Amino acid sequence: MLSLITYGNAFNSLLHEYYMLIKNIKFQEDSNENHSIYINDEGIIECIDCDNKDGEVIDAKGRLISKPFVNPHAHLGYALTLNYARHNLSGTLIEGVEIIREEVSQKITQEDLEKRLEKIIKMHFINGVFYVRSHDPVWNDVVFKMLKARNNPLVEIQVVAFPSPGFFFDENVEKIRKALEEGAEVVGLIPHSERSYEEGIKSIKVAFDLAVEYNKLIDGHVDETDDPNSRFSEVVAREALSRGIGYKTSISHMTASHSYDNWYFHKLSLLLSEAGVSIISNPIVSMHLQGRYDNYPKRRGVARIRELINAGVNVALGSDNVADPIYPLGDYNMLRVAQEAFLADHFTSNEIEELLNLITTNAYKAMQLKEPEIKPGNKAEFIILQTKTIYDAIRTALPPFLVVRGKHYAINEIKTRIDENEETDKIINIIDK
Ligand code: FE2
Repeated sequence: MLSLITYGNAFNSLLHEYYMLIKNIKFQEDSNENHSIYINDEGIIECIDCDNKDGEVIDAKGRLISKPFVNPHAHLGYALTLNYARHNLSGTLIEGVEIIREEVSQKITQEDLEKRLEKIIKMHFINGVFYVRSHDPVWNDVVFKMLKARNNPLVEIQVVAFPSPGFFFDENVEKIRKALEEGAEVVGLIPHSERSYEEGIKSIKVAFDLAVEYNKLIDGHVDETDDPNSRFSEVVAREALSRGIGYKTSISHMTASHSYDNWYFHKLSLLLSEAGVSIISNPIVSMHLQGRYDNYPKRRGVARIRELINAGVNVALGSDNVADPIYPLGDYNMLRVAQEAFLADHFTSNEIEELLNLITTNAYKAMQLKEPEIKPGNKAEFIILQTKTIYDAIRTALPPFLVVRGKHYAINEIKTRIDENEETDKIINIIDK
């Protein structure tokens, strides 16, 4: 058996004198009918199901169209710095943070960040991700470098002014103000990492005060531990509820919820739902970092994604770290993140399709973004999956076949051949609907 996997032109501009016709696109999973989309040289959808056929023709062969993916939790400022320093031999978050502080941080110049970011943006784009929220620390000024470096035509980067290791260290409060004034959209926080419980509570109040004062969103690293007594999420949710800004508030990680007593978690989930906050879980990195202080059996340490969804809470999934001292692997493939959530939190086969919402609809909501609409006159912003069903998309976690954003597009060409016969379609789409 010979299997050919080629990643095609990952980063092309549409040729200016040509239009692009994409034919045989499946719009809805259960439909047998295919459609075409015609994009003009300005990157605008000119018509749907029209007969124009000049320009480049791409045959989607019945693959499923989707809204672009969203990555609502990343640390782009550190991404791809794995070999900048010694390796993290304990695998703990604390050692990873130490390595960044002692060896990596000094190497992040403006030029270095811009060079890495170019690659990071392409990695997101070929995976169909158009929006990313990046938590970048203020203490070492990485956030200011990110604000200068982030603009590009492929991926929108929302920046969180992240007060790692806590609000009340060094000049962090002043630096957060400065980052918000310079354009950061989100106030970060990390209450479980403050020096005391009291300072953790105080940091939440300060973060909300700043968010209100500057009219910004809030997204905290909250309860990212295995400690069942780490209970700052309820304080964040209560504060959001009191101020009526739950829709602008996200709680990232909440890995301690894995270890909460069931009665307490039930009460907490009612409050999270009432407050209307979003929970952003990062199952891949949480599985890597949590449970590191356990003997066997080791806890998975992932937020209770499934129970939160069933309680009516808006849950989204992020990548978190990629190829840095905190997590050495990763690739911004959000379908892989969804697949890992399935595994980490004991989802069942009837729930597979729902996982797509966690990297699309729910993530748009958490980041307060408007979803792109596919209609004539709109900028072309969509992805065509490698598969004909959501089930196969999550099962295979293959990067999208086609990614289109205005004048820019990426193609991931995957071809499987057995002897002389191309078998790609049969091998990727295994269960007929
Ligand atoms: Fe994080």
